[in-house]
Amino acid sequence: MSILKINNLSVSYGNKQVIKDLSMNIARNKITAIIGPSGCGKSTLLTSLNLMIEENGGSISGEILFKDKASISYEKADIRRMIGMVFQTPTPFPFSIYKNLTYAPKYYGIKDKKELNRIVEDTLKEVGLYDEIDDLNMLATKLSGGQQQRLCIGRALTVEPEILLLDEPCSALDIRNTENIEKLLLDLSDEYTIVIVTHNLSQAKRISDYTAFILDGELIEYDTTDKVFTNPKDNRTREYIEGIYG
Ligand SMILES: Nc1ncnc2c1ncn2[C@@H]1O[C@H](COP(=O)(O)OP(=O)(O)OP(=O)(O)O)[C@@H](O)[C@H]1O
Ligand SMILES: [Mg+2]
Repeated sequence: MSILKINNLSVSYGNKQVIKDLSMNIARNKITAIIGPSGCGKSTLLTSLNLMIEENGGSISGEILFKDKASISYEKADIRRMIGMVFQTPTPFPFSIYKNLTYAPKYYGIKDKKELNRIVEDTLKEVGLYDEIDDLNMLATKLSGGQQQRLCIGRALTVEPEILLLDEPCSALDIRNTENIEKLLLDLSDEYTIVIVTHNLSQAKRISDYTAFILDGELIEYDTTDKVFTNPKDNRTREYIEGIYG
C-alpha cells in the first residue's frame, strides 16, 4: 500500500526547473532509497515531500497525496509532525539530551512530566542510546557524531511520525556508526515508512526495498532494489550503478 503518491511533480527555483514531471508512489513501512548524481534534485524531492521546499525558495506544481489526501490540505505543522526529516550533518539543538527529546512533544502540547519522561526513555531505547547515556542533562552536542545522528532520528520519532525522510544521514559518519544507523533504520522500517537519499550505492543495496534513480530532475528508473541493481531497464541506470558517472 502506498502512503505517499507523487503525481506529476515539478519543482523550480526561480525559472530553473529542478524536478521534472516526476511521479512515484512510496510504499508504507518499506525503505525507499533515492539515488542519483550530485545536483540531480534528490534533496529537492525530499524537502517537497514535507512541504519544506517553499521555505527553501522552491515552487511546486503537481500533486503529493499523503494517505490519499493532498498534502497541501493538511496543516503544515501536522505534515511536519507526520513526516519527519533528518539531515546530512547531525543537528541536535544546543541543549541537553533531555530537552532535545522533549522539545517537539512539548510543542505539540504534552505537558505531563511522567509522559515526557516516558517518551525520552522509550526513544533512547528505540535508537539504541539508552545504555550509552548516563546523564540526560549532558549537552547533546557533546555526544559523538554517530550518537548525535541517532539522537536526531530519535528526536524526529518523539512526535510519532509515519514517515521518516533522511538526507544522506551517514555521510558524516564512519563505518561503525554507519552500520549502527543502517541497523536502526532496518528495525524502524517495521513501524515507519523510510525514504533515504544516499550517495552510497552499497548502502542502498543493503537496506532499501525500493530504489529510485534520478538524473537531471527526471525519474529514470524505480523498482525493487534488487531489480535496479541486478537488472536495470535503462542504460543510464546501469551506467550510474557501474560508476561511470556521478
Ligand atoms: N534553494 C535553492 N535555490 C536555488 N537553487 C537551488 C536551491 N537548492 C538547490 N538548488 C539547485 O537545484 C538543483 C538540485 O539541487 P539538490 O540539492 O536537490 O540536488 P541533490 O541531488 O540533493 O545534490 P547533492 O547530491 O549534491 O546533495 C541544483 O542545481 C542546485 O544548485
Ligand atoms: Mg542533496
